[in-house]
This record gives sequence, C-alpha cells and structure tokens, in this order.
Amino acid sequence: MKFLCLLPFLAAAQAAVVPAVDPKEHFHSAVPSAVGPQGKNVTINGVLTYVSLPKKKFDPTTAVLLLTDVFGLPSPDNLTYAPDYLNGDAIPMDGNLTTWIVNHGEAQTTPPLLAVVKALKARGIKQIAATGYCFGGTWLYITRLVQNNTVTVGTMAHPSFLNVPTDFDLMKAQSHVPVEINNAELDTGFTPAVALQTDAVMGDGQYPPGYFRRQFDGVAHGFAVRANASDPVQVAAKQGAFDTSLRWIQAHLKLAEAAVAYR
Ligand SMILES: *[C@@H]1O[C@H](CO)[C@@H](O)[C@H](O)[C@H]1NC(C)=O
Ligand SMILES: *[C@@H]1O[C@H](CO)[C@@H](O)[C@H](O)[C@H]1NC(C)=O
Ligand SMILES: *[C@@H]1O[C@H](CO)[C@@H](O)[C@H](O)[C@H]1NC(C)=O
Ligand SMILES: *[C@@H]1O[C@H](CO)[C@@H](O)[C@H](O)[C@H]1NC(C)=O
Ligand SMILES: *[C@@H]1O[C@H](CO)[C@@H](O)[C@H](O)[C@H]1NC(C)=O
Repeated sequence: MKFLCLLPFLAAAQAAVVPAVDPKEHFHSAVPSAVGPQGKNVTINGVLTYVSLPKKKFDPTTAVLLLTDVFGLPSPDNLTYAPDYLNGDAIPMDGNLTTWIVNHGEAQTTPPLLAVVKALKARGIKQIAATGYCFGGTWLYITRLVQNNTVTVGTMAHPSFLNVPTDFDLMKAQSHVPVEINNAELDTGFTPAVALQTDAVMGDGQYPPGYFRRQFDGVAHGFAVRANASDPVQVAAKQGAFDTSLRWIQAHLKLAEAAVAYR
C-alpha cells in the first residue's frame, strides 16, 4: 500500500510542470513602441478579435492565429487574427496571477478560441498557423491545438503551464502538426533544463511532423513580446524569435509563392 501511494509521487517528481511566470517578472518596456497597431478589432462569431491583414495581395485561404500572453489585446504587438480568448479581462500590469488564473482556465478560454477557429474555417481558411506567447503557448492552447490537429503548424515562445514530458508524449502520440519553440536562457518557468527534457522527447527526428527549438541567451520570460529598445541583446532576441517563427511557418504552409526554405 505504501509503495502504491509512492508511485504517483515519483511520477510527479520526474515530470516538470512549467509554472506561470508572475506578471512582475515579465519585462515591461518603459518606452511604448513607436509603431502602433496596424490592424483593427472586429467581432468574429461573437468574439472580439484583433485582425491585421497584409497591405499587399495575400492568400485568403491561410491565416495566422496569434494567442497573446496574459496581457491580451491591449498589447500592441501584432500578427494576424488574435482572438480575445481572455474575454475582455486581460491581467493588469500589477495584477495577481494566482487570483486571475482562476477565471481564465480551459473552461473559460477554449470556447472563444475555438469559436474563432471554426468561423475562420467556415470563411474558407484552409491553413492556420498558430503562434502563442507564454499563456498562449501553454498546454491549453498551442499545445492542445497541435495535439488536436486543429491547426497546420504551431510555434510558441516562452511557454508556461506545460507538463514536460507528458504534453509532448501526447503530441507525439496523436499529432501530425510541426511545432517550434523559442525559449529564453533566463526563463524561470520553461528553463533551459526543461527545454532539454523537451528535446529528449521531440528532438533528433523523434517527432516526424517536425520539431525545432531555439534558445535565446541573455533574455528572460516575455522576450519575444516585449524588448527594451535600448538593449541590443533584447532587441536582437525579439527579432530573432519573430524571424525563426516566421520561417518555420513559411516552411510548413503550402503557400502560393515559393515557400522560403527553413534555415
Ligand atoms: C507588426 O508590428 C511591427 C512592429 O512591431 C510592424 O513593423 C509591422 O508592420 C506590424 N505588422 C502588421 C502586419 O501589422
Ligand atoms: C482592441 O481592443 C482592446 C481591448 O478592448 C484594446 O485594448 C485595443 O486597444 C484595441 N485595439 C485596436 C486596434 O483598436
Ligand atoms: C495573490 O493572491 C493570493 C491569493 O489571494 C495571495 O495568497 C498572494 O499573496 C497574492 N500575491 C501577491 C503577489 O500579491
Ligand atoms: C482538444 O481536444 C480535447 C479532447 O477532445 C478537448 O477537451 C479540448 O477542448 C481541445 N482543445 C483545443 C484547444 O482544441
Ligand atoms: C533598458 O536598457 C538600457 C540599456 O541597457 C538600460 O539603461 C535601462 O535601464 C533599461 N530599461 C529598463 C526599463 O529595463
């Protein structure tokens, strides 16, 4: 009996649960970005969604689904379709994550997210590239969308709430969606050690749909969303994460123009 009780404990000790990083540990730029939002807020299937469409000709059957971090839509950083899966209740900069997260679990956030995905598919979107940051990169979101084969390709930056290796074992068991991770050397949640545990499951061709991870040194959690404009290391890391995700997405979508080879 004693032995049996110990088993779950041992299993838990081996699995790393990537904790959420407190809002205070996210970098907040003192200087707001000079570039304002390029897109606009619209309602898709009842869900407020930030939409930014390219100015030049684009493939209307392909969309990028951006899952923000806990700071939600008020954050000006962009891509294409960003559903307000936080239901109008993004965490304030000085918010308490412990109390906030209670009302932002799978039950509250998955329905608006899937409502937008469903509406996009109904509008003729055939390929969805999903990219998530922190909260958006969690087991609930990019990881679940990838595990459920709901999207075509996934990328995540400084993920949190992941269960390593279980979430990646599940991905390996049921997904055919290629996935890419950008992580930070100084992240206290998805640490370099957890990143290596992830590689042990996904790396070296063990995940046939495709897996790539890139670590950015000298930066912390949140680096792919916000950078101190006076710090060249942070600026380069943010740009590097964006470029890496973009190349991954381009390499795994069937694009009308010649796809850019992933380097
Ligand atoms: C996204 O924001 C960047 C600056 O952060 C800007 O250069 C770019 O034009 C924006 N892209 C779109 C599609 O709005
Ligand atoms: C979209 O809505 C959010 C939440 O109300 C707001 O903070 C943001 O500024 C809006 N963005 C645009 C481009 O109107
Ligand atoms: C956040 O709220 C929890 C639960 O009410 C409390 O225990 C904790 O001390 C709070 N954290 C901060 C940083 O205020
Ligand atoms: C993924 O599939 C599970 C099991 O069917 C479901 O409970 C969950 O809501 C799905 N999540 C997403 C984000 O698709
Ligand atoms: C931004 O970086 C500059 C140069 O390293 C530094 O002096 C400044 O304190 C940083 N600002 C913040 C808010 O961290």
